[in-house]
Amino acid sequence: MASKAQGRLKYGPRKYVGLHLLLCRWLRLHGDGSKHYCYVTLGGTELKDVQGLRFADVNLASNVWSYETNQKRYALAKQTASDLTTYGVTVDLQCASLFSHKRQSQLPHIFFVDLTGICAWGDYDLRFGELFQNEVIREGDCLLITSHLGHHRGLKEIRKHFAGELAVLGVDEDDDGRVRSVYRRAHPTMTLFKALSLNGIQSELHLHCFGMVKYHDVDHTPMGIYGYTVSAGTTELRTLVWDSSTNYFDVNEGRLCSGDSF
Ligand SMILES: C[S@@+](CC[C@H](N)C(=O)[O-])C[C@H]1O[C@@H](n2cnc3c(N)ncnc32)[C@H](O)[C@@H]1O
Repeated sequence: MASKAQGRLKYGPRKYVGLHLLLCRWLRLHGDGSKHYCYVTLGGTELKDVQGLRFADVNLASNVWSYETNQKRYALAKQTASDLTTYGVTVDLQCASLFSHKRQSQLPHIFFVDLTGICAWGDYDLRFGELFQNEVIREGDCLLITSHLGHHRGLKEIRKHFAGELAVLGVDEDDDGRVRSVYRRAHPTMTLFKALSLNGIQSELHLHCFGMVKYHDVDHTPMGIYGYTVSAGTTELRTLVWDSSTNYFDVNEGRLCSGDSF
C-alpha cells in the first residue's frame, strides 16, 4: 500500500519502473508509432501513470479516461488532471468504476487496471468477462493489471478457486510449493481465462502474456504487474501460462528472473 499523507496516494518509483518496462516491451513488439492510442486507467490522486505515458509520446495519451470510485481521491485527481492540461493532456476523469467504461473510440486502447488488491477473488472474472464480451477490451488492445502479491487466501482456497485451471495446467495439487508458485505467476492470467470461458469466447480472442514484473512498493508491499495483448484467435490455458515468450522481471533486484521464481 502507498503512504496516504493528506489523502494523496504516493506510490514509489519501483511501480513506475515496472509499468514503463512493460510499456516499453509492448510498444517495441506491438505498438505503431504512427497511430494514436486511447488510455483507460484507474485514477488514484496523482495520475503518475498518465504523466509517464505523456512523456513517452503525446499520441499515446490522445484520449485518457481515468476512473476513481473514492470521492476524496477523485477530488484530488481532478486537481492533478487540471494541472496536466499545461502539458497538453486532457483526462476524462470519472467518479465511477473502470468496469463501467464504454468504448467510445475505434482507436487501439491501452488499459491499466492498477488494482491495489488481488486480481483473483471477488467477481473480477465476471467483470473482465463483460469487458471482453462487450468488446470494450478487444483485438489490438493492451491490458496491464496490477495485483497484490503479499498475501492470499491460503492454499486450500487457491486449490478450490482454481481447481479447474490447476488441473488443466497439470499442477500436482499436493505440491504446496508448486501451487504457490503457479498462483503467483498466473492468478491474473487464470482470472482472465475464467473471464473468457464464462462467456465461451476463448475460441474468439487470443490472450498473450508478454511480460510480468514484480516490485516492492514504498511500504514494502509486494506487487506484480502483468501485461497482455489481445488479438483474434483462440486462447488455450496451458499455452497462455507456459508461454516461453513471456518475460519476467524483478524490479527489486533490477534483473530478469524466471517464471518459477516470480
Ligand atoms: C493504484 S491506485 C491508481 C494509481 C495510478 N495508476 C497512478 O499511477 O497514479 C488505484 C485506485 O483505483 C481506485 N479503484 C479501485 N478499483 C476501482 C474500480 N474498479 N474503478 C475505479 N476506481 C477503482 C482505488 O480507490 C485507488 O485510488
